[in-house]
Amino acid sequence: MKSSTEMDDGHLLEIRDLSKRFGGVVAVNRCSLVLAPGKIYGLIGPNGSGKTTLFNCITGLERRDAGEVFFRGERIDGLKPHQVAHRGIGRTFQIIRVFPELTALENLLVVTREPFEVAHRRAQELLRFVALDRLQNEYAGNLSYGQQKLLEFIRVLMRDPELILLDEPAAGVNRTLLNELLAAITRLRDQGKTVLIVEHDMKVVMGLCEKLFVLDYGEKIAEGPPGVIQADPRVVEAYFGR
Ligand SMILES: Nc1ncnc2c1ncn2[C@@H]1O[C@H](COP(=O)(O)OP(=O)(O)O)[C@@H](O)[C@H]1O
Ligand SMILES: [Mg+2]
Repeated sequence: MKSSTEMDDGHLLEIRDLSKRFGGVVAVNRCSLVLAPGKIYGLIGPNGSGKTTLFNCITGLERRDAGEVFFRGERIDGLKPHQVAHRGIGRTFQIIRVFPELTALENLLVVTREPFEVAHRRAQELLRFVALDRLQNEYAGNLSYGQQKLLEFIRVLMRDPELILLDEPAAGVNRTLLNELLAAITRLRDQGKTVLIVEHDMKVVMGLCEKLFVLDYGEKIAEGPPGVIQADPRVVEAYFGR
């Protein structure tokens, strides 16, 4: 039998029976899920179904009330956000957190303690990665909303995370920049990275994700390939039906 501190080989992230409540609200309810490396996963569910709270519990921003989180076989629940980041998990926020008074390039340089040359080279690579290189010296505050979201996305990549959690990265982003973002996510996967993305646009999710997890009132009500999920009556009721 498996002990509670062991996990199966081959999993990058495993969440077991995670729960988080805020007063009387159960934001995440006994949620379990497993991510294998090198794949793109989607996390969907109605507003308030616990998606962001789940991200917050994984990344140490919120303390879970119950359950366990394993990353590369080690417990990470209970770690501080910077410790989780250091283990190799990066995340973006639903609300943009770039520094408007710094340039695009500076926004990337401030998140690393690597030697300047190394950081500078990586920052420029990443700006090219999402076609923002010509805007590197522009103040982030002058960039469009979509460009700021792309900047926040590559800022997460500065630390070369193995697992990338994206909280609604496509919301409010125009078609051109969205395609840039989706192509970049796919290239990351091709490099062996793992991505878990919260996204409402089913067309985006269907085209991008190998597997979806569906939350409703904090509970995982379904998981599977997008085509199967879209036809699941419980999901239709919870998500598409409202
Ligand atoms: N810091 C908080 N304090 C109190 N309630 C919260 C807090 N964060 C989230 N919630 C509640 O938890 C539930 C899940 O919210 P959230 O994780 O933001 O959902 P989603 O990201 O799926 O829209 C909601 O009912 C929300 O109101
Ligand atoms: Mg949210």
